[in-house]
Amino acid sequence: MRVRLGIIGAGLISQVEHVPNVLALPDRFELVAIADPSFQHRDFIEQRYGLATYTSYRDMLDGVALDAVIIASPEHTHYEIACAALKRGHHVLCEKPLCYLESEIEDLIACRDATGLIFQVAHMKRWDPTVEMFFELISGKASQLRFIGVEVNDPNYWPFIEQHATRLETSTGVASGASAEDHKGAMVDRALGSHLDSFERRSVTGPFFASMVHDINLIHGICDAMGVMSCEAMAGAFFAEGWGGSCLLSLNGEQALGQVAHVTVPHLADYLERISVFLDDCRYELRFPSPYLNSQPTELIRISSSGNRQEVTSFRSGFREAFVRELEGFHEAIMSGRIDRNSLEDAKRDVRLLLAASRLAIASRSNADVKSGAQG
Ligand SMILES: NC(=O)c1ccc[n+]([C@@H]2O[C@H](COP(=O)([O-])OP(=O)(O)OC[C@H]3O[C@@H](n4cnc5c(N)ncnc54)[C@H](O)[C@@H]3O)[C@@H](O)[C@H]2O)c1
Repeated sequence: MRVRLGIIGAGLISQVEHVPNVLALPDRFELVAIADPSFQHRDFIEQRYGLATYTSYRDMLDGVALDAVIIASPEHTHYEIACAALKRGHHVLCEKPLCYLESEIEDLIACRDATGLIFQVAHMKRWDPTVEMFFELISGKASQLRFIGVEVNDPNYWPFIEQHATRLETSTGVASGASAEDHKGAMVDRALGSHLDSFERRSVTGPFFASMVHDINLIHGICDAMGVMSCEAMAGAFFAEGWGGSCLLSLNGEQALGQVAHVTVPHLADYLERISVFLDDCRYELRFPSPYLNSQPTELIRISSSGNRQEVTSFRSGFREAFVRELEGFHEAIMSGRIDRNSLEDAKRDVRLLLAASRLAIASRSNADVKSGAQG
């Protein structure tokens, strides 16, 4: 069955990924309309794809018959839009980060359960064929885990979208502007129960919730695959004027440690996202290319040794694109009535951990009395 689909939000991720990818799956989806308040973005979608657009998502939901929506607007709008879509009986694929407030996710869970609709959160890396292969390779190996290290160095996408057809409202591609940042900041204040300064707000909304949410979601997936029973935040830190963030995790108590660090390096046209998993007899390393370099396979190697003889094994699982497989999975979930990954419950677990790490980072700033020197 073809799913009649609407997309809400026509900025960077929709222009680069969702719109072209949905249109490339005509057996599964009919892309009926797109809603976005930005004239520039609607005009681009109309001119390039000949699609109907709406200024307001409510008008779109009222105006056309849909089965499902993709929500690709800024995160502070996700809850309101997701509630409206579920109440109209539409299945939802919602971009990450889902929300900042756990209570909002609980509301969405109740609404999903009352309606029996599919709600999938868009963590596309979980659909990466190399990630799927990696999860099989480490399955059941919890007792061997020693350390998980994650490093992300991101120039904030500018070098990687040049080869895509886009028209973005500002030179940075962030159409939603300062007021969106204010909304996000106010929500983070509510979620953390305190008034954050601008450095803390940028750190929580940027490195933590916009970027590290991908890696926290993957670490939870790794723990599930291995059978690791607990993953708790032990420490958090903000740095690089709010463009860097880091957290420490305890995995199965004191058995193993996780360390995640994200830093934006604005003028370095290079992307690094490396996840290293150390077991007691080998180390795996996953290296993701920039998310916008489509069909570039994620690299996976295993380093092991016998005495001094070292072996490096490289694994590859094809060239299928994670963003496309995510859409195929969403269609399959709608057809079967079941999702097998990226549920609301999974997102709630990720958000809870990110909030705990954010609290620890804020507390450590207060303890070190560094706030006054880093305002702005
Ligand atoms: N999965 C990934 O790797 C990935 C990558 C980038 C962005 N994202 C996520 O996708 C979402 C959008 O990010 P982006 O980079 O495309 O941002 P963007 O600012 O480029 O685009 C957001 C769009 O939403 C529109 N918008 C704002 N309020 C709206 C509303 N109420 N209704 C409809 N549209 C509205 C804006 O006008 C803008 O066109 C964010 O949640 C972001 O975290 C995910």
